[in-house]
Amino acid sequence: MLLDVRELKKWFEVKKGLFGRKQYVKAVDGVSFQLDKGEAISIVGESGSGKTTLGKTILRLYEPTDGRIYFEGRDITRLKRNDLRWYRKETSLIQQDPFGAFASHFSIYRILKEPLIVNKVTKEEEERRERIYNVLRDVKLDPEEFAFKYPHMLSGGQLQRIAIARALILKPKLVIADEPVSMLDASVRVDILTLMRELQKKHEISFMYITHDIATTRYFSDRIAIMYAGHMVEMASTTSLLKEPLHPYTKALLNAIPDPDPENRRRYRDVPPGEPPSLIDPPKGCRFHPRCPYAKDICREKEPPSIDVNGHMVKCWLYG
Ligand SMILES: Nc1ncnc2c1ncn2[C@@H]1O[C@H](COP(=O)(O)OP(=O)(O)OP(=O)(O)O)[C@@H](O)[C@H]1O
Ligand SMILES: [Mg+2]
Repeated sequence: MLLDVRELKKWFEVKKGLFGRKQYVKAVDGVSFQLDKGEAISIVGESGSGKTTLGKTILRLYEPTDGRIYFEGRDITRLKRNDLRWYRKETSLIQQDPFGAFASHFSIYRILKEPLIVNKVTKEEEERRERIYNVLRDVKLDPEEFAFKYPHMLSGGQLQRIAIARALILKPKLVIADEPVSMLDASVRVDILTLMRELQKKHEISFMYITHDIATTRYFSDRIAIMYAGHMVEMASTTSLLKEPLHPYTKALLNAIPDPDPENRRRYRDVPPGEPPSLIDPPKGCRFHPRCPYAKDICREKEPPSIDVNGHMVKCWLYG
C-alpha cells in the first residue's frame, strides 16, 4: 500500500456575524481510503464537495485538521516544512488551468529544468537534457520541436501535456490531477486522459483523478470514489460502480449522463433538484437526506456508517 488516509478532516475557519463568531467550513470531514502502488482512483463529486481540499490536504499543501495520512507507512500528517522536502519529490499535482500554469518568459526546456535544479537532481546539463527530452517524448511532444518554444506558442492541450511532463519529471510515486481536462477543448480531453492513464501504468504511478464528470472516469481509473458534502459516500471498482451503483447520489450522477441507448436511460429515480448543503452547518443525519428520494426517518437522525456491500464501500442507511 502506498497511501493510507484515515478519518481525514480539513476544516477552514471563517468568521461570520457581528461579533466575528468563529465557524468552520467542514470541507473534508472524515474521509478514509487506501491507494496501492500503481493504482488509479477517480474522485467524483459536484462543485464544493471537497475534492480539491482532499487532494491538497493529502499532498500536505493544506494542514490537516484531524485524522492521519500515511505514505509508504510513514506518518506525514504533522511533518513540518523541512521534513516534507522528500515528500514534495515523491508527489505532484496537476491543476485545472494549463494557461496560467507557467511563467511566460521561460522556454519549455527551462520550465522542465526548474524542478531538477530546485531538487538538486543533477548538475550535469547533459543529464538534465536527457531527462527533459525523455519526459517530452513520454507526453508525445517532439523534443526538437517543443523544447525551445514558449508557453504562448502552445495550444491548451499541448500546455496540459507540459504540465503532465513537469509533474512526472521527478519520477513521483503519487500524482493528483485536479480536473485536468475541464478547461480543454472537448476534442482533446479523451487524448489527455488516455495519455495520463498510459503513463500512470508505464511508470506504475499511484494516481488520483479528481473530476465532477463521472462519464470521464471510464477512461481512467481502477476504482471510483464518490464525494458528497465532505464525505465519501461510495467507493468501488470502476466497472462495478458504473454498472451497479448503490448510493442514491451515485445513481443520480449516472442518470445525468446522456446515453443514446433508451434502454439505459433513466434507470434510477431522479434526485430532486437542489443545492448541496452548507458545509458550515451540514444537515443532521445523512448529509444527502434533504435531496434523497429514498430518505426515511433514520436518515434525518443519524449519520450512516460506511459499510461493505458486495465489495462497495457505501455510506447509506438503505443498506445498513
Ligand atoms: N481556503 C479556503 N477557505 C475557506 N473555505 C474554503 C477554502 N477552500 C475551500 N473552501 C470551501 O470548502 C468547500 C470545498 O471546496 P473544494 O474546493 O474542496 O471543493 P471541490 O469539490 O474541489 O469543488 P469544485 O468542483 O468547484 O472545484 C467549499 O465550500 C469551499 O468554499
Ligand atoms: Mg476543486
